[in-house]
Amino acid sequence: MQAFLNTAVKAARKAGEIAIRAQRRLDELEVREKARNEFVTQVDQAAEQAIIATIRERYPDHAVLAEESGRSGSGEFEWIIDPLDGTTNYVHGFPVFAISIALRRRGQLEAGVVYDPVRQELFTTLRGSGVQLDGRRVRVSGRRELDGALIGTGFPYRSNVRWMTPYLGMLRDVMQHTAGIRRPGSAALDLAYLAAGRTDGFFEFGLECWDIAAGLLMVQEAGGLVTGLTPGPVLESGNILAGSPKVHDALRDLLLPHLNATPPAA
Ligand code: IPD
Ligand code: CA
Ligand code: CA
Repeated sequence: MQAFLNTAVKAARKAGEIAIRAQRRLDELEVREKARNEFVTQVDQAAEQAIIATIRERYPDHAVLAEESGRSGSGEFEWIIDPLDGTTNYVHGFPVFAISIALRRRGQLEAGVVYDPVRQELFTTLRGSGVQLDGRRVRVSGRRELDGALIGTGFPYRSNVRWMTPYLGMLRDVMQHTAGIRRPGSAALDLAYLAAGRTDGFFEFGLECWDIAAGLLMVQEAGGLVTGLTPGPVLESGNILAGSPKVHDALRDLLLPHLNATPPAA
């Protein structure tokens, strides 16, 4: 499995170089709106192509599921790729974005890489082997309660605005019971930070599997818990609740009643 991880790291670093080089000339960047307020740039596409080429060079028969180009190939191994997580930040020059690559084998996550090319921080994980930040072992925080906790989140937008009413209730409760909330704008980094103990919990509705596949394995491998805010597999619903064990449970007790009180709009 280490060889798979090495390939993912190589691919993520290449994509990171592409993103950083292009950000120096942000004014020349062509930004297209996939949908209202949903941006895609040539950087997303070039980074994705570089990642796929790096993987295919080594593993030509593996399948790929990538945000911009979709699914290709089939078989036991599947790479799940978000070439630029945090594109809204990226197009504004807000320096929080990452590359996320995960490997799934017969439906089970095996490896994950989240790379922040701005800080040049590399988060890696292999199933059963914990999480490393730049080669150093990291773990989720040992916090035992919401009091004092720092919680990451992402706001509902696009089709996920249907979660707005319960979400706003959740936000109010989390503000009142914790030390603070952060919305950095990259779900992959949100989960990597949680795995590294930089935050204590995280929740968001409507994420895609490429946003969270690598980070989800990281949180679990770092000793944290990941469950769904709604029933069913988290990678399918994208409605994620994660945290160090005690904070996860306390957050679950705080958040879930809002879904019963005000279900999502149809
Ligand atoms: C987005 C980021 C953001 C999350 C959005 C995602 P993108 O990914 O992860 O934090 O709130 O839902 O779509 O579009 O920048 O790859
Ligand atoms: Ca994303
Ligand atoms: Ca993306």
